[in-house]
Amino acid sequence: GLMRELKGIDVMELELKHLLGIKKVVIVPGDSDESAMVKGELGKASAICMKKLLSGKNIIAVTGGSTMAAVAERLTPELNQQELLFVPARGGVGEDVANQANTICSNMAKNTDSKHRVFYVPDQVSSEIYQSLIREPDIHEVLKLIKSASMVLHGIGDAITMAERRKTNPEIKEKLESGEAVGEAFGYYFNEQGEIVHKVSTIGLQLQDLAHIPNVIAVAGGTSKAKAIKAYFKQAPASTILITDEGVAKRLLKG
Ligand code: BG6
Repeated sequence: GLMRELKGIDVMELELKHLLGIKKVVIVPGDSDESAMVKGELGKASAICMKKLLSGKNIIAVTGGSTMAAVAERLTPELNQQELLFVPARGGVGEDVANQANTICSNMAKNTDSKHRVFYVPDQVSSEIYQSLIREPDIHEVLKLIKSASMVLHGIGDAITMAERRKTNPEIKEKLESGEAVGEAFGYYFNEQGEIVHKVSTIGLQLQDLAHIPNVIAVAGGTSKAKAIKAYFKQAPASTILITDEGVAKRLLKG
């Protein structure tokens, strides 16, 4: 539309796609750091993108975060032309209830008139406990669903912001600082080169599993996340679709 052309958004989408080396970039006008409405627009753009990609039966694995919570708000029963099942991508990673993947999946299911599964597992577990947990029938079943997801929806965070939100202990914080972590996704922390500085060990989707998932949609906006997004895409599968905002695009395309 005219609005998009005036702002040169179509051009920025192509430039950012080339810069990050990924399949597709969708940019919404504005900056999520400055207005909560922009997060809503990210949600709306995500719903449109999902609709285009869904076909047949769909298991959709979802992470936590305020952006994913905003995506949930924008999903409608219209999406439910296909069979949908929402599952949390990973075990809990210390979020407020509203921003937990379990809550978000439940809202997504409610808003699309479809189903969801819950996944309650602790963050940090010893390998002994891990081995027995994955044999629990409920957990085993959800893990199988996650690994066979046809779509992943996930957020990307600024490393230090996420470490603080998760009340990360001082030793790990020190590790993140000395390792110069800038970005975070799925509990993995990355430096500017895209190297993994630290990983929160929890059950569920692991970074290497993304390669086997047909549709991966990352949703993240706000100028303050520009570095994080750039770092994450040094690691992320090239097939990922990024839904972001003008704030991020302008910052990254500036150099
Ligand atoms: C968390 C995810 O719940 O949300 C992180 O575990 C993600 O991987 C983060 O980076 C994003 O949060 P927000 O609020 O910035 O969308």
